Amino acid sequence: MELTFAAGDLRGRTRHDLHRFLDVLPGDPGGTIVALVGDDVVGFTTPRSQELIVHPAHRRQGHGTRLAAAARAHARARGEPKLVLSAPLGSEVAVAFLARLGFAYDSSLWLLRLPPETPVPPPAFAADILVRTYRMDEDIPAYAALINTSFVDHPSPLSVSAEMIRHVHGLPGFDPEDIALVAPRAEPERPVAFCRCVVAREGGATSGEISLIGVLPAWRGRGLGRELLRWGVSRLRSLGAADVTLAVEARNELALGLYERTGFVRAQEWPRWSKAT
Ligand SMILES: CC(C)(COP(=O)(O)OP(=O)(O)OC[C@H]1O[C@@H](n2cnc3c(N)ncnc32)[C@H](O)[C@@H]1OP(=O)(O)O)[C@@H](O)C(=O)NCCC(=O)NCCS
Repeated sequence: MELTFAAGDLRGRTRHDLHRFLDVLPGDPGGTIVALVGDDVVGFTTPRSQELIVHPAHRRQGHGTRLAAAARAHARARGEPKLVLSAPLGSEVAVAFLARLGFAYDSSLWLLRLPPETPVPPPAFAADILVRTYRMDEDIPAYAALINTSFVDHPSPLSVSAEMIRHVHGLPGFDPEDIALVAPRAEPERPVAFCRCVVAREGGATSGEISLIGVLPAWRGRGLGRELLRWGVSRLRSLGAADVTLAVEARNELALGLYERTGFVRAQEWPRWSKAT
Protein backbone atom coordinates (compact mmCIF):
# COMPACT_ATOMS: atom_id res chain seq x y z
CA MET A 1 0.00 0.00 0.00
CA GLU A 2 2.86 2.37 0.85
CA LEU A 3 4.46 1.85 -2.58
CA THR A 4 1.15 2.16 -4.37
CA PHE A 5 0.38 5.31 -2.41
CA ALA A 6 3.83 6.78 -3.14
CA ALA A 7 3.35 6.03 -6.85
CA GLY A 8 0.24 8.26 -6.77
CA ASP A 9 -2.12 5.36 -7.51
CA LEU A 10 -4.40 5.94 -4.50
CA ARG A 11 -5.38 9.53 -5.10
CA GLY A 12 -7.92 11.09 -2.76
CA ARG A 13 -6.66 9.16 0.24
CA THR A 14 -4.27 10.19 2.97
CA ARG A 15 -1.57 8.16 4.69
CA HIS A 16 -3.79 8.28 7.78
CA ASP A 17 -6.60 6.60 5.79
CA LEU A 18 -4.22 3.79 4.83
CA HIS A 19 -3.11 3.19 8.37
CA ARG A 20 -6.65 3.14 9.64
CA PHE A 21 -7.54 0.63 6.94
CA LEU A 22 -4.58 -1.60 7.92
CA ASP A 23 -5.31 -1.31 11.64
CA VAL A 24 -8.77 -2.83 11.34
CA LEU A 25 -7.80 -5.78 9.09
CA PRO A 26 -6.76 -8.20 11.87
CA GLY A 27 -10.28 -8.02 13.28
CA ASP A 28 -11.50 -9.99 10.25
CA PRO A 29 -8.72 -12.54 9.61
CA GLY A 30 -10.62 -14.45 6.90
CA GLY A 31 -11.50 -11.25 5.08
CA THR A 32 -8.15 -10.56 3.43
CA ILE A 33 -6.99 -12.62 0.44
CA VAL A 34 -3.35 -12.30 -0.58
CA ALA A 35 -1.37 -13.15 -3.71
CA LEU A 36 2.03 -14.68 -2.97
CA VAL A 37 5.21 -15.05 -5.01
CA GLY A 38 7.32 -17.32 -2.86
CA ASP A 39 6.81 -15.85 0.60
CA ASP A 40 6.25 -12.31 -0.63
CA VAL A 41 2.82 -10.73 -0.63
CA VAL A 42 2.49 -9.12 -4.07
CA GLY A 43 -1.17 -8.16 -3.87
CA PHE A 44 -4.26 -8.38 -1.73
CA THR A 45 -7.98 -7.88 -1.78
CA THR A 46 -10.49 -7.24 1.02
CA PRO A 47 -13.90 -7.84 -0.55
CA ARG A 48 -15.77 -6.43 2.46
CA SER A 49 -14.04 -3.08 2.08
CA GLN A 50 -13.88 -3.18 -1.72
CA GLU A 51 -10.11 -2.95 -1.95
CA LEU A 52 -7.77 -4.66 -4.44
CA ILE A 53 -4.13 -3.68 -4.87
CA VAL A 54 -1.18 -5.27 -6.69
CA HIS A 55 2.43 -4.37 -5.86
CA PRO A 56 3.69 -1.93 -8.51
CA ALA A 57 6.58 -4.24 -9.48
CA HIS A 58 4.26 -7.21 -10.06
CA ARG A 59 1.56 -5.72 -12.24
CA ARG A 60 0.38 -6.99 -15.64
CA GLN A 61 1.10 -10.56 -14.61
CA GLY A 62 -2.45 -11.59 -13.89
CA HIS A 63 -2.33 -11.19 -10.09
CA GLY A 64 -5.12 -8.61 -10.15
CA THR A 65 -7.30 -10.89 -12.28
CA ARG A 66 -6.76 -13.85 -9.94
CA LEU A 67 -7.38 -11.73 -6.84
CA ALA A 68 -10.63 -10.42 -8.32
CA ALA A 69 -11.73 -14.02 -9.05
CA ALA A 70 -10.91 -15.03 -5.47
CA ALA A 71 -12.76 -11.99 -4.09
CA ARG A 72 -15.80 -12.88 -6.19
CA ALA A 73 -15.76 -16.47 -4.89
CA HIS A 74 -15.46 -15.09 -1.34
CA ALA A 75 -18.47 -12.80 -1.85
CA ARG A 76 -20.46 -15.62 -3.45
CA ALA A 77 -19.70 -17.92 -0.50
CA ARG A 78 -21.07 -15.23 1.82
CA GLY A 79 -24.29 -15.18 -0.19
CA GLU A 80 -23.66 -11.76 -1.71
CA PRO A 81 -25.16 -11.23 -5.16
CA LYS A 82 -22.33 -9.04 -6.41
CA LEU A 83 -18.73 -8.13 -5.72
CA VAL A 84 -18.11 -4.40 -5.43
CA LEU A 85 -14.65 -2.87 -5.92
CA SER A 86 -13.71 0.73 -5.48
CA ALA A 87 -11.68 2.50 -8.17
CA PRO A 88 -9.19 5.11 -6.94
CA LEU A 89 -10.02 8.68 -7.97
CA GLY A 90 -9.20 9.39 -11.61
CA SER A 91 -7.40 6.09 -12.15
CA GLU A 92 -7.54 5.10 -15.81
CA VAL A 93 -5.63 1.93 -14.96
CA ALA A 94 -8.27 0.78 -12.48
CA VAL A 95 -11.03 1.56 -14.98
CA ALA A 96 -9.23 -0.37 -17.76
CA PHE A 97 -8.70 -3.29 -15.38
CA LEU A 98 -12.29 -3.36 -14.12
CA ALA A 99 -13.78 -3.02 -17.61
CA ARG A 100 -11.51 -5.83 -18.91
CA LEU A 101 -12.79 -8.11 -16.13
CA GLY A 102 -16.43 -7.40 -16.93
CA PHE A 103 -17.20 -5.06 -14.04
CA ALA A 104 -19.58 -2.13 -14.62
CA TYR A 105 -20.04 1.15 -12.79
CA ASP A 106 -22.33 0.46 -9.83
CA SER A 107 -22.73 3.48 -7.58
CA SER A 108 -20.78 6.22 -5.87
CA LEU A 109 -19.81 7.01 -2.35
CA TRP A 110 -19.82 10.73 -1.56
CA LEU A 111 -17.36 12.22 0.84
CA LEU A 112 -19.19 15.13 2.49
CA ARG A 113 -17.51 17.94 4.40
CA LEU A 114 -19.05 20.28 6.95
CA PRO A 115 -17.48 23.75 6.67
CA PRO A 116 -16.11 24.82 10.08
CA GLU A 117 -18.17 28.01 9.99
CA THR A 118 -21.49 26.22 9.44
CA PRO A 119 -23.52 26.36 12.66
CA VAL A 120 -25.09 23.07 13.76
CA PRO A 121 -27.38 23.08 16.78
CA PRO A 122 -26.72 20.71 19.67
CA PRO A 123 -28.85 17.55 19.78
CA ALA A 124 -32.29 17.67 21.38
CA PHE A 125 -33.85 14.24 21.89
CA ALA A 126 -37.48 13.67 22.90
CA ALA A 127 -38.16 13.19 26.62
CA ASP A 128 -38.86 9.45 26.25
CA ILE A 129 -35.46 8.85 24.61
CA LEU A 130 -32.30 8.09 26.52
CA VAL A 131 -28.82 8.78 25.09
CA ARG A 132 -25.93 7.10 26.78
CA THR A 133 -22.24 6.40 26.24
CA TYR A 134 -21.20 3.02 24.95
CA ARG A 135 -19.90 0.64 27.63
CA MET A 136 -16.81 -1.32 26.64
CA ASP A 137 -17.35 -5.08 26.31
CA GLU A 138 -20.83 -5.39 27.78
CA ASP A 139 -22.44 -3.45 24.93
CA ILE A 140 -20.64 -5.35 22.14
CA PRO A 141 -23.40 -7.90 21.33
CA ALA A 142 -26.17 -5.26 21.31
CA TYR A 143 -23.99 -2.83 19.33
CA ALA A 144 -23.06 -5.49 16.70
CA ALA A 145 -26.72 -6.46 16.31
CA LEU A 146 -27.70 -2.81 16.03
CA ILE A 147 -25.16 -2.14 13.26
CA ASN A 148 -26.10 -5.26 11.31
CA THR A 149 -29.86 -4.70 11.60
CA SER A 150 -29.82 -1.01 10.82
CA PHE A 151 -27.67 -1.55 7.70
CA VAL A 152 -29.37 -4.68 6.37
CA ASP A 153 -31.52 -2.73 3.87
CA HIS A 154 -28.74 -0.25 3.05
CA PRO A 155 -27.69 0.04 -0.64
CA SER A 156 -24.36 -1.51 0.39
CA PRO A 157 -25.18 -3.67 3.43
CA LEU A 158 -22.66 -3.75 6.23
CA SER A 159 -22.05 -6.69 8.48
CA VAL A 160 -19.74 -6.78 11.45
CA SER A 161 -18.92 -9.48 13.96
CA ALA A 162 -18.36 -9.10 17.69
CA GLU A 163 -14.69 -10.04 17.02
CA MET A 164 -14.25 -7.19 14.54
CA ILE A 165 -15.70 -4.72 17.02
CA ARG A 166 -13.59 -6.05 19.89
CA HIS A 167 -10.45 -5.67 17.77
CA VAL A 168 -11.21 -2.10 16.66
CA HIS A 169 -12.10 -1.06 20.20
CA GLY A 170 -8.79 -2.43 21.41
CA LEU A 171 -6.79 -0.12 19.13
CA PRO A 172 -4.93 2.84 20.63
CA GLY A 173 -7.02 5.99 20.66
CA PHE A 174 -10.41 4.28 20.92
CA ASP A 175 -12.66 6.22 23.27
CA PRO A 176 -16.07 4.71 24.21
CA GLU A 177 -17.36 8.26 24.45
CA ASP A 178 -17.11 8.46 20.65
CA ILE A 179 -20.18 6.21 20.47
CA ALA A 180 -23.66 7.27 21.52
CA LEU A 181 -26.38 4.67 21.99
CA VAL A 182 -30.00 5.73 21.91
CA ALA A 183 -32.67 3.68 23.67
CA PRO A 184 -36.27 4.18 24.74
CA ARG A 185 -36.15 5.46 28.32
CA ALA A 186 -38.40 2.58 29.33
CA GLU A 187 -35.92 0.00 27.95
CA PRO A 188 -32.41 1.41 28.36
CA GLU A 189 -30.78 -1.94 27.55
CA ARG A 190 -32.45 -2.16 24.15
CA PRO A 191 -30.63 0.41 21.96
CA VAL A 192 -32.47 1.36 18.78
CA ALA A 193 -30.02 3.81 17.22
CA PHE A 194 -26.39 4.85 17.46
CA CYS A 195 -23.70 7.20 16.20
CA ARG A 196 -20.00 6.38 15.99
CA CYS A 197 -17.47 9.13 15.40
CA VAL A 198 -13.71 9.07 15.02
CA VAL A 199 -11.21 11.79 15.84
CA ALA A 200 -7.94 11.95 13.89
CA ARG A 201 -4.94 13.89 15.12
CA GLU A 202 -2.31 14.27 12.44
CA GLY A 203 0.62 16.68 12.55
CA GLY A 204 -1.03 19.10 14.99
CA ALA A 205 -4.35 19.17 13.10
CA THR A 206 -7.50 17.59 14.52
CA SER A 207 -10.20 16.37 12.18
CA GLY A 208 -13.30 14.36 12.80
CA GLU A 209 -15.39 11.82 10.96
CA ILE A 210 -18.91 10.67 11.61
CA SER A 211 -18.18 7.09 10.68
CA LEU A 212 -21.58 5.46 11.21
CA ILE A 213 -25.12 6.46 12.07
CA GLY A 214 -27.77 3.77 12.24
CA VAL A 215 -31.42 3.70 13.26
CA LEU A 216 -33.47 0.47 13.43
CA PRO A 217 -36.19 0.44 10.73
CA ALA A 218 -39.06 0.59 13.25
CA TRP A 219 -37.58 3.73 14.80
CA ARG A 220 -37.04 5.76 11.64
CA GLY A 221 -38.94 8.93 10.80
CA ARG A 222 -38.82 10.35 14.35
CA GLY A 223 -35.75 12.54 13.95
CA LEU A 224 -33.32 10.19 15.72
CA GLY A 225 -30.89 10.25 12.78
CA ARG A 226 -30.89 14.06 12.70
CA GLU A 227 -30.29 14.35 16.43
CA LEU A 228 -27.54 11.70 16.32
CA LEU A 229 -25.86 13.60 13.49
CA ARG A 230 -26.00 16.74 15.63
CA TRP A 231 -24.65 14.74 18.56
CA GLY A 232 -21.67 13.60 16.43
CA VAL A 233 -20.91 17.09 15.12
CA SER A 234 -21.09 18.55 18.65
CA ARG A 235 -18.87 15.80 20.01
CA LEU A 236 -16.23 16.21 17.28
CA ARG A 237 -16.23 20.00 17.48
CA SER A 238 -15.95 19.87 21.27
CA LEU A 239 -12.77 17.82 20.77
CA GLY A 240 -11.32 20.50 18.52
CA ALA A 241 -12.11 19.07 15.08
CA ALA A 242 -12.36 21.95 12.63
CA ASP A 243 -13.06 19.70 9.72
CA VAL A 244 -15.90 17.17 10.00
CA THR A 245 -16.45 14.64 7.23
CA LEU A 246 -18.63 11.66 6.50
CA ALA A 247 -19.10 9.23 3.63
CA VAL A 248 -22.52 8.38 2.26
CA GLU A 249 -23.80 6.09 -0.43
CA ALA A 250 -25.20 8.23 -3.28
CA ARG A 251 -28.31 6.01 -3.60
CA ASN A 252 -29.14 6.55 0.06
CA GLU A 253 -31.13 9.67 -0.75
CA LEU A 254 -32.76 10.05 2.66
CA ALA A 255 -29.40 10.12 4.41
CA LEU A 256 -27.80 12.36 1.76
CA GLY A 257 -30.69 14.83 2.12
CA LEU A 258 -30.37 14.88 5.91
CA TYR A 259 -26.62 15.55 5.75
CA GLU A 260 -26.97 18.28 3.12
CA ARG A 261 -29.77 20.01 5.03
CA THR A 262 -27.48 20.03 8.07
CA GLY A 263 -24.84 21.88 6.05
CA PHE A 264 -22.56 19.13 4.73
CA VAL A 265 -21.35 19.73 1.17
CA ARG A 266 -20.19 17.23 -1.43
CA ALA A 267 -16.40 17.14 -1.57
CA GLN A 268 -15.41 13.98 -3.45
CA GLU A 269 -17.14 11.25 -5.39
CA TRP A 270 -15.79 7.71 -5.13
CA PRO A 271 -17.05 5.50 -7.96
CA ARG A 272 -17.55 1.82 -7.25
CA TRP A 273 -17.82 -0.96 -9.79
CA SER A 274 -19.48 -4.33 -9.47
CA LYS A 275 -19.89 -7.72 -11.07
CA ALA A 276 -22.49 -10.37 -10.28
CA THR A 277 -21.13 -13.27 -8.25
C1 LIG B 1 -5.53 -2.13 -11.11
C2 LIG B 1 -4.55 -3.21 -10.62
C3 LIG B 1 -5.16 -3.93 -9.42
C4 LIG B 1 -4.33 -4.23 -11.75
O1 LIG B 1 -3.54 -5.32 -11.27
P1 LIG B 1 -2.69 -6.26 -12.28
O2 LIG B 1 -2.19 -7.42 -11.53
O3 LIG B 1 -1.72 -5.44 -13.01
O4 LIG B 1 -3.84 -6.73 -13.28
P2 LIG B 1 -3.78 -7.92 -14.34
O5 LIG B 1 -2.36 -8.26 -14.69
O6 LIG B 1 -4.61 -9.04 -13.86
O7 LIG B 1 -4.46 -7.20 -15.60
C5 LIG B 1 -5.69 -7.66 -16.19
C6 LIG B 1 -6.08 -6.75 -17.35
O8 LIG B 1 -6.44 -5.44 -16.86
C7 LIG B 1 -6.05 -4.44 -17.82
N1 LIG B 1 -5.00 -3.57 -17.27
C8 LIG B 1 -4.30 -3.76 -16.14
N2 LIG B 1 -3.41 -2.76 -15.98
C9 LIG B 1 -3.56 -1.94 -17.04
C10 LIG B 1 -2.90 -0.74 -17.45
N3 LIG B 1 -1.90 -0.21 -16.73
N4 LIG B 1 -3.30 -0.14 -18.59
C11 LIG B 1 -4.29 -0.68 -19.34
N5 LIG B 1 -4.93 -1.83 -19.00
C12 LIG B 1 -4.56 -2.44 -17.87
C13 LIG B 1 -5.48 -5.21 -19.02
O9 LIG B 1 -6.54 -5.52 -19.90
C14 LIG B 1 -4.98 -6.48 -18.34
O10 LIG B 1 -4.85 -7.56 -19.22
P3 LIG B 1 -3.50 -7.72 -20.11
O11 LIG B 1 -2.32 -7.52 -19.20
O12 LIG B 1 -3.61 -9.11 -20.65
O13 LIG B 1 -3.58 -6.65 -21.15
C15 LIG B 1 -3.18 -2.59 -10.27
O14 LIG B 1 -2.77 -1.75 -11.33
C16 LIG B 1 -3.18 -1.77 -9.00
O15 LIG B 1 -2.97 -2.30 -7.90
N6 LIG B 1 -3.42 -0.44 -9.13
C17 LIG B 1 -3.46 0.44 -7.96
C18 LIG B 1 -4.64 0.14 -7.05
C19 LIG B 1 -5.97 0.14 -7.79
O16 LIG B 1 -6.22 0.89 -8.71
N7 LIG B 1 -6.87 -0.72 -7.30
C20 LIG B 1 -8.22 -0.77 -7.76
C21 LIG B 1 -8.48 -1.99 -8.51
S1 LIG B 1 -10.23 -2.06 -8.74
